[in-house]
Amino acid sequence: MNLAQTRKNDHVRLALEQQRKDRVSAFNDLRFVHQSLNQVRQDHLDLSSHWANQDHSWPFYINGMTGGTEKTKQYNQKLAQVAHETGLPMATGSVSIALSQPQVADSFQVVREYNPNGFVMANLGAHHNLENAKRAVDLLDANALQIHLNIPQEVVMPEGDRDYGMWLDNISQIVAHLGLPVIVKEVGFGMSRETIADLISVGVENIDVSGRGGTNFVQIENDRRTRLDFQDLGNWGQTTPESLLEALAFQDQARILASGGIRSYLDMVKAYALGAKAVGLSGRFLALVDQLSIEDCVQVVNDWRDSIAHMMLMLGVESIEAIATCPVVINGQLRDWALSRGID
Ligand code: FNR
Repeated sequence: MNLAQTRKNDHVRLALEQQRKDRVSAFNDLRFVHQSLNQVRQDHLDLSSHWANQDHSWPFYINGMTGGTEKTKQYNQKLAQVAHETGLPMATGSVSIALSQPQVADSFQVVREYNPNGFVMANLGAHHNLENAKRAVDLLDANALQIHLNIPQEVVMPEGDRDYGMWLDNISQIVAHLGLPVIVKEVGFGMSRETIADLISVGVENIDVSGRGGTNFVQIENDRRTRLDFQDLGNWGQTTPESLLEALAFQDQARILASGGIRSYLDMVKAYALGAKAVGLSGRFLALVDQLSIEDCVQVVNDWRDSIAHMMLMLGVESIEAIATCPVVINGQLRDWALSRGID
């Protein structure tokens, strides 16, 4: 196995270790205001979402993770089976490794093989140009492309990129000429309004703010190092709710998606309250397919949907987008963030 392949297996192993640790949800600083009357009926509830130029029957999706080795192929297969059984949209991990090592392409293509008609997103880093973006979507017959932004990960990764100067230009070219929807995402460090404004300025219409609170790639890459210790940067970046606050001013200009530390239906509903059009889960899905049969994973997914529906009854709203109109109260660190960034 070469270095890139070892890294892919390390990522899965260390991400699964992180899933075993208890963490406090950054969404705890957000509470809904309970209302004692509403007009909502269960048979009117609509849990669909609209992003990447398409209607999706689900308000959440399997976010980008893996591929590139035999082991990660097995995870991709299971994730694809869950996507196929449920109809969930799904992204692969970065296909960069398959562009330089075509012999590992099957570890990504398994996603299409097991989910031939589903909504599949290919994934690439922003250092790739338009030509590679076309190769990436062709490889999977993908419906959309995720482009990830991951500077802290590259910095702490011993073998990481050290030059990010072309990223925005590449994104601009890809968005203009790929001919498929593009979603630009973080990888768990969140986004600022400055970043979001830059992305929108080059035509990006779908943004996954992917914030801190779940899988932590500074920690993962630090665990892979032997020299220099970046443990102190374990809290780098904006949490997912902080990032959603940063994105509030751009709701009319882009479809804002949320991921990072989403564990359950309650985190999801709170993300919708802060304007997320849909929510992505990575580490949580990895742990599910690691531990459960496909059938049991499907049950968990259906339970999340039903729980979201129950929450909608309590909140008095009939659509996912309408959750953003529910009054909320913000406390603690999330309130401090909003105040010091002048968000009201
Ligand atoms: C990731 N993530 C990721 N993101 C991306 O855009 N390209 C990638 O190749 C990967 N690789 C990857 C591997 C593994 C094992 C995990 C768990 C995650 C990041 C992912 O999409 C997401 O942004 C973060 O993991 C935060 O979400 P969770 O895990 O807290 O739900």
